[in-house]
Amino acid sequence: CGIVGYVGGQSAQDVVVAGLKRLEYRGYDSAGVAVLADGGLAGAKKAGKLLNLEKELKDRPLPAGNTGVGHTRWATHGGPTDVNAHPHLDNAGRVAVVHNGIIENFAALREELAGRGHELASETDTEVVAHLLAEAYSSAGDLAEAMRQVCRRLHGAFTLVAVHADAPDTVVGARRNSPLVVGVGDGEMFLASDVAAFIAHTRDAIELGQDQVVELSRDGATVTGFDGLPADVHAYHVDWDASAAEKGGYASFMLKEIADQPKAVADTLLGRIDASGTLHLDEVRIPPSELREVDKVVIIACGTAFHAGMIAKYAIEHVTRLPCETELASEFRYRDPILDRHTLVVAISQSGETMDTLMAVRHAREQGAKVLAICNTNGSTIPRESDAVLYTHAGPEVAVASTKAFLTQLVACYLVALYLGQIRGTKWGDEIRTVVRQLSEVPRQVEQVLGTMEPVRALARSLADRDTVLFVGRHVGYPVALEGALKLKELAYMHAEGFAAGELKHGPIALIDEGLPVVVIVPSPRGRSVLHDKIVSNIQEIRARGARTVVIAEEGDEAVVPYADHLIRIPATPTLLQPLVATVPLQVFACELATARGNEVDQPRNLAKSVTVE
Ligand code: G6P
Repeated sequence: CGIVGYVGGQSAQDVVVAGLKRLEYRGYDSAGVAVLADGGLAGAKKAGKLLNLEKELKDRPLPAGNTGVGHTRWATHGGPTDVNAHPHLDNAGRVAVVHNGIIENFAALREELAGRGHELASETDTEVVAHLLAEAYSSAGDLAEAMRQVCRRLHGAFTLVAVHADAPDTVVGARRNSPLVVGVGDGEMFLASDVAAFIAHTRDAIELGQDQVVELSRDGATVTGFDGLPADVHAYHVDWDASAAEKGGYASFMLKEIADQPKAVADTLLGRIDASGTLHLDEVRIPPSELREVDKVVIIACGTAFHAGMIAKYAIEHVTRLPCETELASEFRYRDPILDRHTLVVAISQSGETMDTLMAVRHAREQGAKVLAICNTNGSTIPRESDAVLYTHAGPEVAVASTKAFLTQLVACYLVALYLGQIRGTKWGDEIRTVVRQLSEVPRQVEQVLGTMEPVRALARSLADRDTVLFVGRHVGYPVALEGALKLKELAYMHAEGFAAGELKHGPIALIDEGLPVVVIVPSPRGRSVLHDKIVSNIQEIRARGARTVVIAEEGDEAVVPYADHLIRIPATPTLLQPLVATVPLQVFACELATARGNEVDQPRNLAKSVTVE
């Protein structure tokens, strides 16, 4: 969910709704706003996209007020209805609360409140907070203190922002787990899940830590722990501006982000490799002596980041000869994994706030493992709680389906593999220099791929009425196949599956019938050509069963030509690095196919970009 709070001299309704627009990627099944006005509270909330709320506010504007809160929701407790939308109020309508996360003991609290005569209107866990806050405020007479008292009673993960009609010019926020950032303006202050919500007003921000409460007035912010003691905070300046969070002439954020990829890859490599081909990852603050003692690497991530992690396994094992496993973060801690201080855990997350990944990081650290985060969001929770972080420099990614963040995660994974190799002495000098040189070619190669996508778009449009598309690959092409299928599921709502090409004959080949589109990612014929030969056989097997083959192969690979109903060319790259170029046509394919089916690509149904619940 996305949260905004504002206090200052402008119309709170306007600032909050504009902020919500920038946070809509975090959830978009309902939205609401509340402002302090005329000594009371006024609000509106609507199921569906933010547009519905905007229409409602146009028809029935709220009275003018300078303090307010807003919310855009990804439903957990209770369906996406007007009533369940946030903000939630107490019975007297004096307190308004917005919330991100899950309050696990809400049923007990609800019962307790009902026993004291409170009437709860929604099915949400959030509403109990509004009622508890109203009670606490009536005895404490101070909204921040009331918030601290309430937070001490809540279990689970929650970020809360509240206003009270009796506390004008005050907004109070509380943070556990999911993010909350303060925007520091001139005579105005902001609170939001992400700096994007207030970047048009200020680039000065303060990051709140775990279990902290902040009280905002027009002129400043006071931060304490849940225990009331003053807290240390981290103030910083955001190094990108509002234009980076805008579409810049593209029809969708997704198209812009796909086009941004050459720069995102180049920015992620920048300054990390010197002219002699030596890696300098000084930001990875785990001492080389400790990295030399690592005897196992475990990668944890979710969704698209998990696919980057699968590819990282091939790179890390190849370069370092260390055993490496990749695991879904949501499964990791529940199977009691074997970890110790010689285990290096690499947590990959674009947002740095995916709850499944965060919980896996905490579990790993509790077991004594070292955690290195690969993350795209400065100062977010996962890097804060890790031993070290390597930031990807993709810039803000807004479209829910990840594209440029994925490519930069791959770059970061290759850098980590090479860095470990450099430190541990498994790869040196020339070998590293060769890979580094190849990596530095990638921005140009991605640019080249992007320039040849018209036939891919035409193919995508021609398949818009199909039900199923399969993707197959071998080696690093297998995770690429999974990623291609995931993109199609997310965006086109189609049945799409990725398989390891060698596994097809063990079952999935039964799915193939006349005309079924099967996308095949073909490894480079150079180097370990046995891999290439095997997949050429697989293409023939598929085609013999009637499939319509869409073959992604490098330029000059003539062996695949007789078996390709559609041939998509990518620049020649060593197989290990091929995902950096092979993924791009699959992103374009899914985006175009989804658009042809009339879907909105930036905000696919049922999804959210940052999933801050487990
Ligand atoms: C959500 C998004 C996916 C993303 C995954 C992991 O499910 O819809 O696109 O890959 O979270 O996100 P992270 O921010 O941890 O990379």
